[in-house]
Amino acid sequence: MKKIELKAYFDHYVDENELSEEDAHLLKQAKEALKDAYAPYSNFQVGAAALLENGEVFLGNNQENAAYPLGMCGERVALFAASAIFPNVPIKAIAIVAQSNSQVLKVPASPCGSCRQTIFEKEFRQKQPIRIILQGETGPVYIIHSIKDILPLSFDADFL
Ligand code: THU
Repeated sequence: MKKIELKAYFDHYVDENELSEEDAHLLKQAKEALKDAYAPYSNFQVGAAALLENGEVFLGNNQENAAYPLGMCGERVALFAASAIFPNVPIKAIAIVAQSNSQVLKVPASPCGSCRQTIFEKEFRQKQPIRIILQGETGPVYIIHSIKDILPLSFDADFL
């Protein structure tokens, strides 16, 4: 037996002022999208903005339901909307932001496992990585260059 270590990687920026113009703009769009989140049950709002290679931007936010499991995460709303309209245009980047009614989020909220798997599928389909830009309400920005960096030992269609 031997132990195998799995590592996660991301770039840490002090705040949005350190970002490129394109990344800062996408983050701003995700913050706008967050305002329209429907999250009356969790009181936790998530906004996402997906930038496609053709320059189109698709926004998403979490959409909850009184039947809790029916709710959908903000990043998946944006990813699915983009794939529905431009199935063959690669997604270059997605910015994801979060806000809570019960605390000021000073660090980025990590995408949940289901969203990581969904981003992974999209990378697999388009055969190129998606840049992931994360921020809480304020504070540091994390940039992940590919979902593979935060989803080691992942499941893909090659297993099927
Ligand atoms: N949520 C997202 O939108 N994205 C994530 O990656 C994590 C969680 C949403 C789901 C639910 O509406 C609320 O945040 C609290 O879990």
